[in-house]
Amino acid sequence: MASILLIYGTTGGNTEIVAEAVSDGVEERGHEVKLMRIEKYLLDEVFAEIEKCDVMMIAAPTYGHGEMQMDLKPFLKELSGRDLKGKKCIVVGLGEAKYDDHYHIASVPILEELLTGVGAELVFRPLRISGNPATHLDRLIPLWIGQFCDFLEHSGT
Ligand SMILES: Cc1cc2nc3c(=O)[nH]c(=O)nc-3n(C[C@H](O)[C@H](O)[C@H](O)COP(=O)(O)O)c2cc1C
Repeated sequence: MASILLIYGTTGGNTEIVAEAVSDGVEERGHEVKLMRIEKYLLDEVFAEIEKCDVMMIAAPTYGHGEMQMDLKPFLKELSGRDLKGKKCIVVGLGEAKYDDHYHIASVPILEELLTGVGAELVFRPLRISGNPATHLDRLIPLWIGQFCDFLEHSGT
């Protein structure tokens, strides 16, 4: 059984829907998930959980031209100065196709660059959600969860 920490920020609630769906699905496969909506915790508490977990996920929507969601910014700033060498990480990104192609779900490359820059290891492909997450709850999200849990189990995480 792996312990997964899922840190997320949301403005309109979409990322929370995805975070909860991922959490429920991964728990159904027998793993432990701690969900942290970032603004509800002190940064010290968040980093204490990061130390303890086997895999850290960060879920974030994309806002104007590659801006990160407001509540995540202090956390990501602190993270960029930390050493996460060897920490297993996965990114979940949300966005909408109506925005400039270059910035469509730009939260994924932004987070991945930040994480690899502090030495973290990206262990599984990101989950990308474009548009209303409710339309992905039946297929795309469960498929990704299944493949992610297969990876966890085969890798012995
Ligand atoms: C002001 C604004 C700017 C946005 N900019 C982008 C963007 O640059 N790229 C993108 O893919 N989606 C963009 N989006 C779409 C959001 O990322 C998307 O609606 C997401 O699901 C919102 O997540 P949340 O409800 O968790 O805050 C933008 C939405 C708003 C309201």
